[in-house]
Amino acid sequence: MDRREFVETCSTGLACITASMALPALAADAKPHPYARVLLTDERGSALRASQLKAQTNYVFHYPFEATPVFLLNLGKPTQAQSLSTEGKSSYLWPGGAGPERSIVAFSAICAHQLVYPTQQVSFISFRKTKAGKGLADNLIHCCADHSQYDPAQGARVLGGPARQPLCAVLLEHDPKNDTLTAWATLGGELFEEFFRKYEFKLSLDVGPKAKQAVHGQAAVRELDKFCRNTIQC
Ligand code: FES
Repeated sequence: MDRREFVETCSTGLACITASMALPALAADAKPHPYARVLLTDERGSALRASQLKAQTNYVFHYPFEATPVFLLNLGKPTQAQSLSTEGKSSYLWPGGAGPERSIVAFSAICAHQLVYPTQQVSFISFRKTKAGKGLADNLIHCCADHSQYDPAQGARVLGGPARQPLCAVLLEHDPKNDTLTAWATLGGELFEEFFRKYEFKLSLDVGPKAKQAVHGQAAVRELDKFCRNTIQC
């Protein structure tokens, strides 16, 4: 399903069902929150090809604001639409991954528990191909701060720990002709206001006055290990 179909489907309220043949009928009341359409690029500013993404590898870009990090993952396997809900009981339908295999997913990298996020100095949260010491399973996004664990194949549903809602999804559109990826919206529980409030001083030092500016045009994707000096492995 492409972006337009997804918006139309969920706007009519009819058939979020068609988004996922396997799902039961749902009343999805949270809609995608559109932001600027932003082309994902490599570090040199060339359009990133979806087929370039290594499977089960942490990539990071910033969207929808200059200071808000997002995990980009090629899970290496197809994903399916999921019915989820926010802490405030707002239900929504995550449409599944993008790309020819529906394996490419993106989620805000701001932990839904206490807003831990990857910086250039350190990251306590990341996708773990092999389960963490206190992990429940392989292939989860694990926050080492308090061990919240999210399943990226299920729309970042919470599988363990104190987080009370999935990571906010970032919706991607894949252009099959050029094999490019464009971010265009978020879906689910945004925590950006809380994030900017909590880290105002740190973000002013790390990112400067652009921290709250919306990203426009394009966003550079980096491997987490290149973006961040110290990836904590709990
Ligand atoms: S901040 Fe991530 S689990 Fe507490």
